[in-house]
Amino acid sequence: MNRSEELQAYVVELFAAEDAVLAEIRREHRDAGLPDIAISAEEGRVLQVLLRAAGARRVLEVGTLGGYSGVWIARALGAGGKLTTIEINPEFARMARRSFEKAGVSDRVEVLEGRALDILPFLEPGFDAIFLDADKEPLVDYYRASLDLLRLGGLLLCDNAFFNGRVVDLTDTRPDIEGVRAFNRMAATDPRLLATVLPVRDGLLVGVKVAE
Ligand code: DHB
Ligand code: MG
Repeated sequence: MNRSEELQAYVVELFAAEDAVLAEIRREHRDAGLPDIAISAEEGRVLQVLLRAAGARRVLEVGTLGGYSGVWIARALGAGGKLTTIEINPEFARMARRSFEKAGVSDRVEVLEGRALDILPFLEPGFDAIFLDADKEPLVDYYRASLDLLRLGGLLLCDNAFFNGRVVDLTDTRPDIEGVRAFNRMAATDPRLLATVLPVRDGLLVGVKVAE
């Protein structure tokens, strides 16, 4: 480990150690062959701090995967809070429901199965925070729908703002990378959003909706 990795491990050990439930969920997902693209514990803790700072009670996630991030989020919700999370893959959605059962948070999590762009227009606006962590090519479309669903002062969060460093390799123009670039540009320049990217894991975009 270099010094920067040592410091990261130090922070994770102090602030973001997984409990037995999260460790078991991570193991199960690895053993089941789920894609290894879930957030890290470090990132989970950052999400929790941000959600608490925003007093988030109604949270939306796009891209449930196996529910690992959802457990971190659900645990940070204030009293009476609710996480709505959208997943297109029925097998992933099934695993996520199991994760939420295991973590004892199923009463405050709703998994919606289907295409996010089909579901988003039917959701009730006024979310306190929205976490985008799904496929990258349609990110700008997710962005547009999310800003409409977010309350003034709400938090827009998006995983993989660096997309494994590929956002700055301009020779690489694959559609998913262009999707992340277009999203980052939009978040950076939209006057409705005050945003930046925290260099947490693969880049966590954090924005506050400052105008309608
Ligand atoms: C990929 C990684 C992610 O964390 C994600 O949310 C979606 C896609 C990827 O590497 O392709
Ligand atoms: Mg991701």
